[in-house]
Amino acid sequence: MKVLVIGSGGREHALGWKLSLSENVEKVYYAPGNGGTATFAENTGIDTYDFNAIGKFCVDNNVEFVVVGPDGALAEGAVDQLEKFGLKVFGPTQAAAKIESSKAFTADFLTRFNIPQPVNKTFTDTESAKEYVEEQGAENIVLKADGLALGKGVILPATQTEANQAIDQMMSGELFGDAGSTIVIQERLRGQEVSVFAISDGEDFVLLPYFQDHKPIFEGDKGPNTGGMGAYTPLPFVYDELDTKIRKIIGDTITGMKQDGTPFRGCLYGGLFVTEEGEPKVIEYNCRFGDPECQPMMLALDSDLLPLLLASAQGNISKLAETTKISNDAAATVCLASAGYPESSQKGIEIHGLEKDYEGVTVFHAGTKLEGGKFYTNGGRVLNITARGNDLKDALSKIYAVIGENGIHFDGMQYRRDIGFRVL
Ligand code: AMP
Ligand code: GLY
Repeated sequence: MKVLVIGSGGREHALGWKLSLSENVEKVYYAPGNGGTATFAENTGIDTYDFNAIGKFCVDNNVEFVVVGPDGALAEGAVDQLEKFGLKVFGPTQAAAKIESSKAFTADFLTRFNIPQPVNKTFTDTESAKEYVEEQGAENIVLKADGLALGKGVILPATQTEANQAIDQMMSGELFGDAGSTIVIQERLRGQEVSVFAISDGEDFVLLPYFQDHKPIFEGDKGPNTGGMGAYTPLPFVYDELDTKIRKIIGDTITGMKQDGTPFRGCLYGGLFVTEEGEPKVIEYNCRFGDPECQPMMLALDSDLLPLLLASAQGNISKLAETTKISNDAAATVCLASAGYPESSQKGIEIHGLEKDYEGVTVFHAGTKLEGGKFYTNGGRVLNITARGNDLKDALSKIYAVIGENGIHFDGMQYRRDIGFRVL
């Protein structure tokens, strides 16, 4: 079958690459794709949000199955619109995607279905938000833009002054545009974070490996949040009892969405905090694969991705629980970002070292462009250097060995040398 992947990031490169390995996938197209996807698939040049053009392209080229990567396209109703063309589509409907696109909606959903979460309050005016922070103490809360903000919409203020300034900037639209006009203020939790990925058909789900990512730009988890600078699996602290609690949270969420009349099909990505008492709580839900978690996830998945994604779109996913094979290896990725990221990014800088194959390392492209046989930067997060290993140290040493002057590099390249420090 022919498949089209919507999006242009490292996540989409990894999804299309893994699909291309399926014996039932004849060809992979991208709308629009990036420099890396151009090397094994066909970039159509169609924009992520041009659902009409994507639908027509699929019908004209006998593409049967569309995989929607980015949250923005899902929130805009990609699935609803493409299904009208008679296509099979992987991802949640616009109504179900609200679990990511509104934090206020999700806080209410979790309350109604008794799913553990931090204490939350929603605000639409600056004065009452500031008062609430004063009552709680700035160091005990986090500020979250209600809407989508490219994974950057969360602020952990150190002082009341910082909180006040952030509230003003969020609500005026200066920081996150419309996404910040409503703010959710959440109790600040302490403990370990776990990213949970469940592929659901609206009824049941298959759980993929647990991951952690590093959102801040600088080593030691300092500096502003990015879309994600690196990710890894496994997490040694997720023992059986915790696994059972997490599965219950996901199961209750899938059941709740179904009861609400908005069944969740696609990848449900839970951002969970495990408190010092060992209780998992949902700090956020996303309605898609994580980026960059998806990249090492595709390396860790030993079985075919196509049947899993198809079953999510069509039903009967419980059958896939037995045939989905996850490797016991560790897997990790390190993100190479361009100068200025996350505030800005540099485009058009030549990337060196991509002409070689590096044994045991898979390079997924994010913000890159292929022109005249050369790769150039084309965004903030540029490349995801990804590997499997006997353990996390092994995977990371393979990755770090190929980054630098004698391997993959470009002017202004930023990356973190401490990916995985929280579990190593
Ligand atoms: P999110 O975009 O909601 O995943 O938040 C980004 C990051 O902010 C998370 O990965 C956490 O490190 C941090 N964060 C978000 N919510 C909380 C919370 N309630 N308590 C502590 N840290 C949080
Ligand atoms: N890795 C963070 C995200 O995909 O939102």
